[in-house]
Amino acid sequence: WPFFIPCSWVLLCQRCPSSIRRRVASTKFRNTFLESVPVLQWAPHARPEEYQRLQGHGGAYGWQDVAWDSLTLLNTLANGHMFDAHPGTADGNPSCIRCAVVGNGGILNGSRAGAAIDQHHYVFRVNGALTTGFEQDVGNRTSFYVFSTNTMMNSLHSYASAGFHQLPQTPETRYIFLPDHDRDYLLLRAALTHRPVDKGPDNGPLQQMAPFLPSPDGRFLRSSILDTPQWWLYRPSTGAVMLLAALHTCDEVSAYGFITPDYRAYSDHYFDGTHKDVRFYANHDLQLEMKLWQRLWKSRLITLYTRD
Ligand SMILES: *[C@@H]1O[C@H](CO)[C@@H](O)[C@H](O)[C@H]1NC(C)=O
Ligand SMILES: *[C@@H]1O[C@H](CO)[C@@H](O)[C@H](O)[C@H]1NC(C)=O
Repeated sequence: WPFFIPCSWVLLCQRCPSSIRRRVASTKFRNTFLESVPVLQWAPHARPEEYQRLQGHGGAYGWQDVAWDSLTLLNTLANGHMFDAHPGTADGNPSCIRCAVVGNGGILNGSRAGAAIDQHHYVFRVNGALTTGFEQDVGNRTSFYVFSTNTMMNSLHSYASAGFHQLPQTPETRYIFLPDHDRDYLLLRAALTHRPVDKGPDNGPLQQMAPFLPSPDGRFLRSSILDTPQWWLYRPSTGAVMLLAALHTCDEVSAYGFITPDYRAYSDHYFDGTHKDVRFYANHDLQLEMKLWQRLWKSRLITLYTRD
């Protein structure tokens, strides 16, 4: 990989001695965590041999059915890295980058965690990332909005009544795009060429985005669903992909609004008008995700927001 610098070599790690990358070596995740996986995928990764390799994998895991010309469009340097100068600091990044990763769980309703969330260097949000009217509980900053076409469109549709009418758009907001189907690449192409989507059901409001290379979650969230006839349906939830992307890029990660063992005590989302039970869909494995968040927390690789 052209942009991979091993942690043990350098500077990068001396910058923040307490970084997740350092700490992971002494946890049971040391063999799961691949330092060498590039978290964002952009123009340099669109190489013929890589195209051939990833064409063997469908859905979120590869480039099956994806046109070559869609892949070469991510050609600005900004698509290649997550963190650069941001409003929080005068001179770019601080020594240890602290990230708040905010899921949409009902556990955040009444949490008053908003100020703590906003005090991180970067705030990650996903899908129906409503902040207006919920600032006290979830904060108001969005540094990164994470979505796939499907989850974004579903969120705009399903959460409109709660007030979610547009994607977060602030000067610091950037989009992290989890491409899943050819539909995603059509949207990507339209956004990057500033043209309408030429086929399919979507139109493209997006200006800047960086597709996420999802290989790490294949290692962290290998569900037993993959051993059943429904294997082809399965992928980690978009929230899980977001949290794992942060785990691979931030020095410290605080997770808010992610599923916890007492999930039955809370509504599905913090913005629900009336209580809705958390729903489990066949395409995700939320029980496995819940266990992973507990294990990462016990290994002190993340902090997980709970109500006790
Ligand atoms: C968030 O709230 C703070 C404090 O009220 C305000 O200064 C800031 O402009 C808000 N930011 C956004 C993105 O709304
Ligand atoms: C959110 O919390 C308030 C205060 O505890 C409660 O009255 C309300 O029912 C909760 N909303 C949902 C959707 O559970």
